[in-house]
Amino acid sequence: MKVLTVVGARPQFIKAFVVSRALKPEHEEVLVHTGQHYDEELSDVFFDELGMDEPAYNLGVGSGSHGQQTGEMTAELESVMIQESPDVVLLYGDTNSTLAGAIAASKLDVRVAHVEAGLRSHNRDMPEETNRILTDHASDVLFAPSESAVDQLESEGITDSVYNVGDVMYDSLLWARDRARDMSDVLSRLDLIEGKYVLSTVHRAGNTDDPGRLESIVRGLAAAPYPVVLPAHPRTVDRLKAHSLWELATSELQVVDPVGYLDFVRLMDGSVQIATDSGGIQKEAFYLDTPCVTLRDDTEWTETVEAGWNVLVGADQSLIAETLQTPDSPESKPNPYGDGEAGTHIVDVLETLIVDNRAQV
Ligand code: UD1
Ligand code: UDP
Repeated sequence: MKVLTVVGARPQFIKAFVVSRALKPEHEEVLVHTGQHYDEELSDVFFDELGMDEPAYNLGVGSGSHGQQTGEMTAELESVMIQESPDVVLLYGDTNSTLAGAIAASKLDVRVAHVEAGLRSHNRDMPEETNRILTDHASDVLFAPSESAVDQLESEGITDSVYNVGDVMYDSLLWARDRARDMSDVLSRLDLIEGKYVLSTVHRAGNTDDPGRLESIVRGLAAAPYPVVLPAHPRTVDRLKAHSLWELATSELQVVDPVGYLDFVRLMDGSVQIATDSGGIQKEAFYLDTPCVTLRDDTEWTETVEAGWNVLVGADQSLIAETLQTPDSPESKPNPYGDGEAGTHIVDVLETLIVDNRAQV
């Protein structure tokens, strides 16, 4: 089986790692990096740490407006897909790289498989929501991480070739957790004490582009009863400076560069609470039993909220401050996102659909 995998942004390298290792050594994988993320700390560090193969192609598309970035990626991906003629194109999550892969492959009539299908925040202002919906509706095989994602697809009329395989990020977290405890020295490097700091990330366009929301978040975080460490996405650094909030942020918070995956898992594991607008980090906090405060008004990872481990606070300064005073760790936790073997389940399904079918022809 020949799989062409499209990645481009930080969380996609981590997700692809899980399936790539399950494809080896039996199947051929052509890894294509669109170049959406290109800084060393947002890209190369993950390939090194996770021991991933160098991408066979790096399209070097870089940053740009949504239309320009997605359009350029689509054109470049189309050429690679024609050249490689894969059995299936594998896409992850909800970024512009995901959507570009879906457009290019579906128009070439190449089979498209989407990992993290069926997630919805029901907030159409988020570019990611548009990317998810369009990608799901262009896909032939839908790998949902939970039962609620399967139900969501069904409500949109998508019932064929939908598989609940669990969350690939649960697999990667299980791989990383003990390694991070053994190998990462990030707490001492950043002068942090286990259980005595809050970890935060902010990078959503809806939060960083709006000066009012960004200021309110910084002020809310600053009221935490513990020091707050914020590994800042370059977009956030840029916006903090553009909105004249850099001085405030760096005086109130410990703003540091983004860190590698093992260091980040260690930071999540050791923190008293996580405040984030990331999608992936909400789940990782849940897997690590670290209470999460989500700096958004909605989430696609609804089970974490229903279970009481995640609280949606938006960009409301007083609500952020208040929720950071009282971390809530419920006594029990459900397990809605699979068995930690999503990568193997995905490869099993693809083998059944592609290899077994070919054998029957
Ligand atoms: C993208 C995804 C988002 C995902 C996030 C993961 C879309 C629409 N957004 O958001 O869903 O959660 O990745 O981190 O696909 N930049 C750099 N260096 C880089 C990459 C970006 O400095 O290596 C800066 C550029 O100024 C760029 C900005 O960050 O304009 C935004 O980058 P972009 O990839 O467009 O979106 P993200 O905010 O990273
Ligand atoms: N992450 C990391 N270093 C950081 C911040 C995040 O390794 O400094 C990892 C994190 O553990 C998670 C993923 O990056 O696996 C989440 O990426 P991000 O928040 O950028 O994207 P989202 O999940 O919101 O799409």
